[in-house]
Amino acid sequence: MTTPAQASSAAADLALPIVDAALAERLRVRLADVESALFGHATSRAPFVTEAARHLLAAGGKRFRPLLVLLAAEAGDRPANPEVLTAACVVEITHVGSLYHDDVMDEAALRRGADSANSRWDNLVAILTGDFLFAKSSELTAQLGPEAVRIQAETFTRLVEGQILETVTPGPDDDPLQHYLEVVAGKTGSLIATSAHYGALFGGAAPEVVTALTEYGELVGTAFQLSDDILDIASESEESGKTPGTDLREGVPTLPVLMARSSTDPADARLLELLDPERSDLTDDALHAEALDLLRKHPALEEARTYVVARAQEAKKLLDVLPAGAVRSALEAFADVVATRTA
Ligand code: IPE
Ligand code: IPE
Ligand code: MG
Ligand code: MG
Repeated sequence: MTTPAQASSAAADLALPIVDAALAERLRVRLADVESALFGHATSRAPFVTEAARHLLAAGGKRFRPLLVLLAAEAGDRPANPEVLTAACVVEITHVGSLYHDDVMDEAALRRGADSANSRWDNLVAILTGDFLFAKSSELTAQLGPEAVRIQAETFTRLVEGQILETVTPGPDDDPLQHYLEVVAGKTGSLIATSAHYGALFGGAAPEVVTALTEYGELVGTAFQLSDDILDIASESEESGKTPGTDLREGVPTLPVLMARSSTDPADARLLELLDPERSDLTDDALHAEALDLLRKHPALEEARTYVVARAQEAKKLLDVLPAGAVRSALEAFADVVATRTA
């Protein structure tokens, strides 16, 4: 398990090729400030609640959302505004709360390389600790004023709707790919859009920049989740700090699965049988391993990667609103890293 110090260095070392040394250093220093503030916010008068709430924070994580807040703030004229740091904490605490709940719904045992809260304690502790973190992020958002509260409330609505919709099988008239993309935009695009939105807003960016960066965040967030879903299939190790193959085991159809399902190639008959919940049960270890192996070799994986890269390209186009320079380059690099990440 990683310590808080290691976690903060993981955040600072996020594989983001920032060419401008001064920008990289500013972000590193501010991320370290966010890191210590996060632990302060995840504190309760009840020691057990503090322990449970800090469990996943201490386990690490990429701190991708706070980094985006800080980076988007650089597009404005007051990136060092203290409200930017508060906003960075709001999005990470909301995110971490959602991880506690997500691991219950996905029955995941591993998170950030550590035991998930439901595995370390039980579902009750995991759900209530997630609630505690959501409450803390709301308290913190109140410090940012009513506009921030409205944005946070709408984001949370979309995030939870996305999580719930994932559990609903699309109807016969629904397009499964469309359904999946709505789930992804809700559960992940929403909070990453808000990360860019908050950063630009509290960093003092012009209104058209705030709008463009919010849209950029939505697209980057979608690409981020799609990449994550591809890694769930492609990754052969627990490098991500999670157990690969979880989506398949839980019967959550993701982009490569949806693309493979549309195949009419007779050579795919066995894979299609395995992917059909009416004909096979992927909680069975042998069937799960077989499906994972066939999917890893299937062209749908590459097709899915191409789709994600196209979303990142769209996101980068929105950055035309910014002048060429270090901040725009870093945001471009951010979109590229998201689309091609391997962990
Ligand atoms: C995990 O998010 C949940 C998804 C939206 C895929 P991250 O990949 O940002 O997880 P951490 O914060 O680095 O653990
Ligand atoms: C996570 O979705 C989305 C939220 C936590 C809101 P997933 O279930 O796909 O993410 P991982 O793979 O567990 O991180
Ligand atoms: Mg999950
Ligand atoms: Mg999930």
